[in-house]
Amino acid sequence: ARTRLHTIAAAAAVSGERRSKANIDWESLGFGLKDVAGTMYVAEWTPEKGWDQGKLVPYGPITVMPSAQVLNYGQAIFEGMKAQESAQGRVVVFRPDQNAARFKAGAARMSMPAVPEDQFVEAVKATVAANLDYVPPIGKGSLYLRPLLLGTGPILGLGPAPSYTFTIFAAAVGAYFKGGQLTPIDLIVEERFHRAAPGGMGGTKAAGNYSPVLVTQLEAKKNGFADVVYLDAKTDTYLEEVSSCNIFVVKGRTIKTPPLGGTILPGVTRRSIVELARSRGYDVHEEPVSVHETMEADEVFTTGTAVVVSSVGSITYRGTRKQYTEPGQAGKVALEMYAALTDIQTERAEDKFGWVVPV
Ligand code: COI
Repeated sequence: ARTRLHTIAAAAAVSGERRSKANIDWESLGFGLKDVAGTMYVAEWTPEKGWDQGKLVPYGPITVMPSAQVLNYGQAIFEGMKAQESAQGRVVVFRPDQNAARFKAGAARMSMPAVPEDQFVEAVKATVAANLDYVPPIGKGSLYLRPLLLGTGPILGLGPAPSYTFTIFAAAVGAYFKGGQLTPIDLIVEERFHRAAPGGMGGTKAAGNYSPVLVTQLEAKKNGFADVVYLDAKTDTYLEEVSSCNIFVVKGRTIKTPPLGGTILPGVTRRSIVELARSRGYDVHEEPVSVHETMEADEVFTTGTAVVVSSVGSITYRGTRKQYTEPGQAGKVALEMYAALTDIQTERAEDKFGWVVPV
């Protein structure tokens, strides 16, 4: 059913920074803001009125006071989602209900007013509908959506913001890691810092989880690695995740991924790969995976909305480098899972799970 927001989406799009499909170089998409979409969604929450229905406006600044809670105390969560052109000739989003539920759980963890799940999904669809010209042709990339929930109201003493902003911006994107989607990435196990601790907020998609990782990530990049793998804060023994994605370890027909227990981000792609791999006959376990077991594995890959499924070429731990793949050659299981997932996401394959939602 076309909604009120859908109807005004086209009008809002006209007033935004327009670029026709012809003006974007679909062959050179990376993961960035070069092709940021012209229209964004913005809704406001006040204690008197709750959430307003939101509106579509040209992509541009949101104005806040220096005293905004989010700038001082970091009351912020975000989501990552993708809309893609499908083989059915329509534009679809992947499991938006999952992001809506995680957004709601994150709001509770950060003492923010939850966005009703139906409003979240509706806003995502409307943002895509207003930016159809930024959806890459099938197979060339996707329209990445970035929902944000921010404590934008002013405050001085530590407490929750008096008012909030829910916004969604979007950009046409290609592969996340440099080298392209099918080039394996080299990782190093991080030994100085932890990403999250039991009882902390590692399982929340809070903005604050993503800047403390930069110090290690930048150092790793300087040394030729794409990113780092974190170990558990209690024992320094078990894998947690990579800065921007979850991790899977393969031995024969067995696939393991660290269990969700509050320190690991409950990735939508992670969950989907667990379900997909099981449906394809793999023995999948969500259980602790030691770094030693990982160094003996056949294959490793990472998952995330931004990274999709990324083959891990090597992992370096305490000076020892374990090579999983031939140079430049993605692992077999990573390739299989990448194809299986993206075939569903683009409706090249039957969507048996009911994951794909048309805009
Ligand atoms: C995503 O995969 O969509 C994320 O939000 C991770 C981010 C670090 C790019």
